Amino acid sequence: MEESLNIGVLISGRGSNLQAIIDGIEQGKVAAKISLVVSNNPDAYGLERARKHGIPAVVVDHRMYSTRQEFETVVIERLNEKGVELVVLAGFMRVLTEHFLKAFPLRVINIHPALLPSFPGVGVQAKAVDYGVRFSGCTVHFVNEGVDTGPIIAQAVVPVYPTDTGEILADRILKMEHQIYPKVIHWIAERRVRVEGRRVFVEGAKMDEEIAHIEPVA
Ligand code: GAR
Repeated sequence: MEESLNIGVLISGRGSNLQAIIDGIEQGKVAAKISLVVSNNPDAYGLERARKHGIPAVVVDHRMYSTRQEFETVVIERLNEKGVELVVLAGFMRVLTEHFLKAFPLRVINIHPALLPSFPGVGVQAKAVDYGVRFSGCTVHFVNEGVDTGPIIAQAVVPVYPTDTGEILADRILKMEHQIYPKVIHWIAERRVRVEGRRVFVEGAKMDEEIAHIEPVA
């Protein structure tokens, strides 16, 4: 069998990005294997998705721990037990501290439903609509100690229309999330992603003038 990247996916809810990654792997587009899904929320629908595909899934409920560090220590242990090489945050709604990031240096990525550095944090699709921006989108980035501040790997842009609500925009953005997140994981699996300070370079990436809404195109 071909060598593939061992990934762990952290979720808190619906898990549609998890599903897009599972589908990408099953279709042979993503050279990775999901060794473990971890949810901090026992009711996350994403747990069901993992089980349906025979992927090991565990709950580490943050409410059971008195400090962030204790919670993170358990998550780190679970991921290490499975030999996870890349941690993929997919709708994971807990901020990770330095303690966790030290265990996986430059090995944690996140998807955020806005064009960072605009609109970090939560509820950002509605914030983009309320602000009146004409474009929004999503960002895949390495996670650092800040909230949504790590080096940007890829972004995709969508228009914002006057008739949009936060929900309508969220759906439009989500479709792009499902396209770019599996791609980025594949690039990392192929060892094509290199970080220099804040800048991230993807080997073999094209600067596409026709499909300018995803950058880079690789
Ligand atoms: C996605 O839109 C993701 O970008 C966002 O939560 C949603 C999860 O959906 N993540 C964040 O806001 C992280 N701060 P999913 O559970 O269906 O993948």
